[in-house]
Amino acid sequence: MAGAVSRFTIFYILFFYLNIAADGTPNSFSKVQTPAKFGFKKEKLSHLHFYFHDTISGHNISSIRIISGPSKKSSVSKSGFGNVYMSDDPLTEGPDIRSKLVGRAQGMYAYASQNELGLLMVLNFAFMEGKYNGSTLSMLGRNMALSEVREMPVVGGSGLFRFARGYFQAKTHTFNRETAVVEYNVYVLHY
Ligand SMILES: *[C@@H]1O[C@H](CO)[C@@H](O)[C@H](O)[C@H]1NC(C)=O
Ligand SMILES: *[C@@H]1O[C@H](CO)[C@@H](O)[C@H](O)[C@H]1NC(C)=O
Repeated sequence: MAGAVSRFTIFYILFFYLNIAADGTPNSFSKVQTPAKFGFKKEKLSHLHFYFHDTISGHNISSIRIISGPSKKSSVSKSGFGNVYMSDDPLTEGPDIRSKLVGRAQGMYAYASQNELGLLMVLNFAFMEGKYNGSTLSMLGRNMALSEVREMPVVGGSGLFRFARGYFQAKTHTFNRETAVVEYNVYVLHY
């Protein structure tokens, strides 16, 4: 018993204090840490709700086409396949663009489906509201924009959202030739 305790103690000292790698060599590249030391508390589930405004023409343009897909004659042009947009879209508390700004969605979306309206979304959601100011959530997902509700993964985050995982749910609120207003519900696990 005493032998087992001391073996464990030696193991603990080697790995946690002296920073010796598993093969026994000293290691300054990686180190095992305890989450408490970094101030991480219990993991929690947050729900965020906001409206996303994507405007491609008219006033307050927030998305520009940076790559044009093949011409109208192409067999894949109907779905817009190949077009890529760069966005800096406002996120507001309510559906009205004049309601409180809570963040911005910055990044790209690309027409990634040959046969239907299917977007590849690569966006960072940078929040500005209250304690979330400066924290971000990253989206990488598939957006079948004509579907009622689309689900896209949260692939990570920064600030309050370190170690984030979760999902975005997007639902089109209003849509015309200039602007799409999309209601977002985000469910995210973080510390
Ligand atoms: C453009 O943005 C400003 C400031 O957010 C807003 O007051 C105005 O109503 C917007 N215009 C349109 C056409 O959405
Ligand atoms: C968010 O943080 C920036 C930079 O620290 C600061 O300039 C800005 O006023 C803050 N905004 C809000 C709404 O707190």
